[in-house]
Amino acid sequence: MRLGVNIDHIATLRSQRDTPYPDPAWAVPIVELAGADGITCHIRLDRRHITERDLKLIKELTTTHLNVELCTDQNIVKLISDLKPDHACLVPERAEEQTTEGGLDIIRARKDIEESVKVLRAADISVTLFVEPEEAIMEAAKEIGVSAVELNTDSYCKVGGDEIERLKNAAIAAHNLGLEVHGGHGLNYQNVRGILSVPHLVELNIGHSIVSRAVFTGLSQAVKEMLNAIAQCKRRRGEGEKGRKGEREKDEGCLEL
Ligand code: PXP
Repeated sequence: MRLGVNIDHIATLRSQRDTPYPDPAWAVPIVELAGADGITCHIRLDRRHITERDLKLIKELTTTHLNVELCTDQNIVKLISDLKPDHACLVPERAEEQTTEGGLDIIRARKDIEESVKVLRAADISVTLFVEPEEAIMEAAKEIGVSAVELNTDSYCKVGGDEIERLKNAAIAAHNLGLEVHGGHGLNYQNVRGILSVPHLVELNIGHSIVSRAVFTGLSQAVKEMLNAIAQCKRRRGEGEKGRKGEREKDEGCLEL
């Protein structure tokens, strides 16, 4: 399981006062030295947190894996094609939204998505689509020709319950179609344990909870605690599966931070 740390929230804090600090680029070596597998950031049309200057610095400093989230606007797609991060994740964008509000509407926006995927892939960037966990959407993603989907975990994080089953079914469908399965949005140190029961997940992108914890513990410690939470839950789940074959796994007591 790879952990990509979303560093936008550091830039959001900077924008609130229009100060030069905290600089999201400073986060890159700290996050990487703490053991994360990659850096994720989102350049928005209005540049309200991550700017082009940030992107250039972040790209230069990243030695692990850089995943840039972007919408299908042609100028942004061109910017990212020129930047050449390792990965691009297409997301929907609404100007007034506080954060990404849902997965891509593949039916309505299909033409724009296909065009963006074509341009990004021509620049040798592997592309992920941020989508709702529905089986039909996995099929559409496959047809569009991306290598991975990032399943929106927000409903699971807010509502729990059956949402985990939706995620599991979507992950199985995506995997069966040969797509890599990623997940993200709204994950924290508690609800991450449940997400690990979703099969075929190979990457989680987590930001807000890590940056929030960093206020009290420092960024390095906050990243290490998330990595530790993921590793512990994976280990215990593995042990649980061996000890209680066929039983539903239990998440209780999963975390010792
Ligand atoms: N994945 C996507 C596509 C996102 O838009 C975001 C938020 O920027 C995240 C993951 C991370 O979400 P959070 O900050 O809630 O951990």
